[in-house]
Amino acid sequence: MTTGRTDHPLWRDTPRTAPTPQLVPLSGDVTCDVAVVGAGLVGLTTALELARAGRSVVVLEARHVGAGTTGGSSAKVTLQQGTHLSSLAARHEPATVRLYVQACATGQQYVRDLCEATGATHDVLAAVTYATSPSGRAALADEAGVMAAAGIPGELLSSADLPFGTTGALRLADQLQVDPQAYLEVLVAQALAAGARVHVGTRVDRVGTGTPRELTCSTAQGRARVRAGHVVVATGSPVLDRGGFFARLEPQRSYCIAVRVPGERPAGMYLSADSPTRSIRPAGEDRVVVGGNGHPVGRAQDNAARVADLERWAAEHLGATEVTHRWAAQDYRTTDGLPFVGRLEPWSHDLWVATGFAKWGMTAGTAAALALAGALTERPAAWAASWDPWRGDAATQVPDTATFNAHVVQEGATGWFGALRDVAPDPAQVPEGGGVVGRAGLRPVGVSRVDGTVRTVSAVCPHLGGVLRWNDAEMSWDCPLHGSRFAADGARLEGPARCGLARLDTR
Ligand SMILES: Cc1cc2nc3c(=O)[nH]c(=O)nc-3n(C[C@H](O)[C@H](O)[C@H](O)COP(=O)(O)OP(=O)(O)OC[C@H]3O[C@@H](n4cnc5c(N)ncnc54)[C@H](O)[C@@H]3O)c2cc1C
Ligand code: FES
Repeated sequence: MTTGRTDHPLWRDTPRTAPTPQLVPLSGDVTCDVAVVGAGLVGLTTALELARAGRSVVVLEARHVGAGTTGGSSAKVTLQQGTHLSSLAARHEPATVRLYVQACATGQQYVRDLCEATGATHDVLAAVTYATSPSGRAALADEAGVMAAAGIPGELLSSADLPFGTTGALRLADQLQVDPQAYLEVLVAQALAAGARVHVGTRVDRVGTGTPRELTCSTAQGRARVRAGHVVVATGSPVLDRGGFFARLEPQRSYCIAVRVPGERPAGMYLSADSPTRSIRPAGEDRVVVGGNGHPVGRAQDNAARVADLERWAAEHLGATEVTHRWAAQDYRTTDGLPFVGRLEPWSHDLWVATGFAKWGMTAGTAAALALAGALTERPAAWAASWDPWRGDAATQVPDTATFNAHVVQEGATGWFGALRDVAPDPAQVPEGGGVVGRAGLRPVGVSRVDGTVRTVSAVCPHLGGVLRWNDAEMSWDCPLHGSRFAADGARLEGPARCGLARLDTR
């Protein structure tokens, strides 16, 4: 049953209860109060709230709604966040942790209210962090303590209601899960109804320095322009080369599979406290989504093996008999664990950003959108100051920034050394589904073979020159420095790079 090659998230294939909004690329020039870059959870929630507040809003999405992380999320909308609260408590004052919880509770309530108001599918069920070792059980006790101090009534149990052995569980009742693609479509429908415009297939290439801001966009039909009083960059890692965010974010890629489990399925949403991470949730009538085996983007040599390992684990531990979907997605962790939400540059008053949700963006990302909408409508959120990207607690950020960048420097040097040492790859030697980096003159090149098609691209990341690695689960070139990813033909997929890779073969 194992193959390891990803395709697309389960959520794209689940039946919809409402018609999917039909969206088109932008054409011509438009002027608006706010341009939102990125139609993920953060961009669309921000757009909806600003449109409801009477602002003229245009959302610009490079690919399609759900093309980014939200479309690949496991979409647990919960305050039981693994052991995240205790890791925050280790670096921040109790008041800051309480504000984080308040933000996530507000985000969770927002999702709940929107689902209830629109009839969108959502499930109310318990969230459980479980342990399989004595140290995992101790981590649960720590988390329960931090939760209690923040007013969350978690219940410590001796085991989890899972069909395999556990050493303890921390359970929080009455949490939420959604189908993230369906939820995004609800956000689009609501934003359109509130007067916002949403354009897909519209990549923002540049944002000017003048006032109002001029956004240069590309579509399959050509160029389009937007003039906006404010710009919200909600693209995961910010696509504008401003603010140096890439140096303060660690991109983490994780894998998910959807499986059929005959008989009884796990009843709640689960996350392991121990490594390797395992995330489990039911989906639809007959599936279970299992996630885990994450790693910093571009730094694994065995992507397909990690997916295959999840498949084996689901068969052995949950009795899964069939894998119906395999996919991967990435999210960003900040240096001190709290999101970056606010001004893109310390001095900017019209450029905004939200990123760094450490895989808890369904709640924290919604809270980020509320904070951004609040900042633009003079209704500041209580947590806005502690999530400010330019918050002054350098003392907590510096050690991790140094660690992040030590890895980056090491990866950068290793990549160039390896590429220049190896001779140019012989296309005939590249196996199906494989990609090899080598040297053509003094230039690192990548040769891949996907479904029989051999392609040669520059293996140098156009962001800041990292040497790319082949991802044999997703058939992509991934950058180990700051997480940009490119398709086999060089097209940009995600991350801070603003363009694709140079093609070096004849097409
Ligand atoms: C495997 C996995 C599981 C997760 N599970 C959970 C969970 O259970 N619970 C939870 O709370 N969180 C979870 N998360 C985290 C959560 O899904 C994310 O934090 C959240 O979805 C981020 O949303 P976003 O809007 O910031 O980004 P995205 O959804 O990535 O949206 C950004 C959008 O910007 C677009 N874009 C990029 N560049 C441009 C450009 N130049 N022009 C125009 N558009 C552009 C992209 O195409 C994309 O659609 C998970 C994350 C991962 C990786
Ligand atoms: S993403 Fe920064 S160098 Fe590749």
